[in-house]
Amino acid sequence: MNKEVIIIGLGWVGQANALALIKDEFIVHGIDIRTVNNIYKDPDFNKIKISDAGSFTSDAPKIICVNALNDEHGKQDLSAVFSALKTARQIGGGPVILRSTVLPTKFKNLDFDLFVPEFLHELHAIEEARKPSLLVIGSKKSADNLPQFLLHWKKSAKRVFLGTPEEAAFIKYLSNIWNALRISHVNEMGNIMRRRGMNHEKVLDFFFERKPYLKYGREFSGHCLPKDALAFLTEFNEEAKLISAMHESNEDHKRYVKEHHPDVEAQYFRINEA
Ligand SMILES: NC(=O)c1ccc[n+]([C@@H]2O[C@H](COP(=O)([O-])OP(=O)(O)OC[C@H]3O[C@@H](n4cnc5c(N)ncnc54)[C@H](O)[C@@H]3O)[C@@H](O)[C@H]2O)c1
Repeated sequence: MNKEVIIIGLGWVGQANALALIKDEFIVHGIDIRTVNNIYKDPDFNKIKISDAGSFTSDAPKIICVNALNDEHGKQDLSAVFSALKTARQIGGGPVILRSTVLPTKFKNLDFDLFVPEFLHELHAIEEARKPSLLVIGSKKSADNLPQFLLHWKKSAKRVFLGTPEEAAFIKYLSNIWNALRISHVNEMGNIMRRRGMNHEKVLDFFFERKPYLKYGREFSGHCLPKDALAFLTEFNEEAKLISAMHESNEDHKRYVKEHHPDVEAQYFRINEA
């Protein structure tokens, strides 16, 4: 049984995947273009075998976890993904598994085998990577020969989806935009009541039961929601009317609380802020 993997990009997602696999007795090699810190302050961080891409060859599966940012116009910029995919093929054979968030329209020129978007939250990332609530596998060809680590996660995942990379990408964007939409809706309704002197939280908390993403608080923010919602809006533009209004509402809310209620709480935290 091959329990070796190579992770390219050791930020929040790469380290969570690496640590989850190490805890399940995989051997993990890690590659990054910069010196990386132990983000999760996890004692197993030292078990990641950090390697230099130029002097390393292996046919183990390569998991790409680099950042996919937006350019100044909100357009998705995949230069880090292209560069990491090239590195992966230079290291050797074996499947290349893309985990960076990529728009469903962008797969044509990307050289990978499986697209497996990541759904983790930074606060519980390692446990979520070990037992994914959603394991979404988008395969270019057949998904018959999945690498060992995906077969392992398939056993522990709550829900598994097998389909095309495009379908997998839509699931990822559905998830992030749904979270952003819920935050915006609750905040907008809260502000309408608040401006009229009502107890907005009493009403909202009765209906939404203070569930995640359904509590009145700060605007949607963090590493992913604004970036991914904006990239989707820029790509689908006229077709994404609700998402366009969501951005406007989120910006209004940001201005309103900054001016009148700067003490409102964030919806969620990163591990270093918890
Ligand atoms: N952070 C989250 O909560 C989260 C959740 C789900 C999905 N995602 C997605 O996962 C991807 C990674 O996110 P992240 O938060 O881990 O990003 P991050 O910025 O924390 O880490 C990315 C890492 O990739 C490295 N890198 C960039 N180019 C590289 C290259 N060519 N070769 C090797 N390493 C390279 C960077 O130096 C950095 O350490 C993004 O697409 C993000 O949208 C993030």
